Amino acid sequence: MRMVDLIQRKRDGLTLSKEEINFIINGYTQGSIPDYQVAAWAMAIYFQGMNAQEIADLTMAMVQSGDVVDLTGIEGVKVDKHSTGGVGDTTTLVLGPLVAAVGVPVAKMSGRGLGHTGGTIDKLESIEGFHTEITKEQFIDIVNKYKVAVAGQSGNLTPADKKLYGLRDVTATVSSIPLIASSIMSKKIASGADAIVLDVKTGDGAFMKTIEGSRELAQTMVRIGQDVGRNTVAVISDMSQPLGFAVGNALEVKEAIDTLRGEGPEDLTELCLVLGAHMVHLAKRAETFEEAYNQLQSVLKSGEGIHKLKEFIAAQGGDSSIVDHPEKLPQANRQIEVKASLNGYIKSIQAESIGHIAMMLGAGRKTKEDPIDLAVGVVLKKKVGAPVKAGDVLAVLHVNGSADYSDIVNRTTQAFILTQEPVEPPTLIYDVIVE
Ligand code: URA
Ligand code: CA
Repeated sequence: MRMVDLIQRKRDGLTLSKEEINFIINGYTQGSIPDYQVAAWAMAIYFQGMNAQEIADLTMAMVQSGDVVDLTGIEGVKVDKHSTGGVGDTTTLVLGPLVAAVGVPVAKMSGRGLGHTGGTIDKLESIEGFHTEITKEQFIDIVNKYKVAVAGQSGNLTPADKKLYGLRDVTATVSSIPLIASSIMSKKIASGADAIVLDVKTGDGAFMKTIEGSRELAQTMVRIGQDVGRNTVAVISDMSQPLGFAVGNALEVKEAIDTLRGEGPEDLTELCLVLGAHMVHLAKRAETFEEAYNQLQSVLKSGEGIHKLKEFIAAQGGDSSIVDHPEKLPQANRQIEVKASLNGYIKSIQAESIGHIAMMLGAGRKTKEDPIDLAVGVVLKKKVGAPVKAGDVLAVLHVNGSADYSDIVNRTTQAFILTQEPVEPPTLIYDVIVE
């Protein structure tokens, strides 16, 4: 087989067989096929697309390029959740305990934040003593005992995806639906998921800016799931503003605690119930989505969810007293109010920009090596649809240090897009794709 012939076939709109896709992915992972040929092939895919069979074959070739986590030591159906990347997305910290409280195992591998999006591992590390570097045996043991554990990614998962994603990033081939869908699904499958719930974000802060694009990505991923034997459901949710109010590590832990107490932001609460209910339903702990939703609502009301959070924190070495005393979480030494300069209604809150502001304050990293400040971030005081008067507080910056923050304050004001016409609060969930 010659790579040049496969590039040509894809360029001309023909399909590649499973053997041919395996040849490319194996050769690329091992270094016998160079970057420039794979870059040309990715560009051919960008223009010609792939059919469902090719996408499934590409996904499984990437899964098999490295280690596959074996979770068979955990009883029950292992359902994983994945978000395509939001700002202030605290769902895992809420969902994990809620879903576990109804008896469904949550064995979550998670990452650190990079750029304008946060990572669950960083958020959890704002809890004194919390370890995410646990062995595979400890991980499985904790899930069997408490039904929930979160570990940092370890081992050599989907090296082909890592290499290909890096190459796509510098060859303008990231935004190809077959490549995005296979990239995301390969990582979930390699992490041991039997079933997958996807939260596909749509809007300004998301990968996919339009509903049509988001729906196509969701359908492609759900189809991969069907084709490779992993039940998959995709929820298309709004990213025309950050989720909840808090953006920043310790601030989001506090928000997750509030939410598990039933006192959280409405959008975050509802999205967690919906995503969680799909997880419980896919795990076959409920006959219908509605039954699963009701189960989660009742563990939220009864306090079993917050109890589960304490168990989960303690099981991974963390100080669970922060749940009753969130003031023990890292606190910034200064709060700066950001005020509206005009009257009007909030039309959108540029999520990506708020994510960048949190990063500039120190909550996120520009490069993988940057240190972060767990205490800092942004807390929104108004959301889309709210009427505002000049002088109203739009957001509060939690900062450490005595620098001049006027530039960041200006940027924050500009992230709030105001209009003179009344605005309806946005739809939270646009669609659910089950097949
Ligand atoms: N996220 C991924 O993991 N892969 C992509 O290709 C795009 C977004
Ligand atoms: Ca939030």
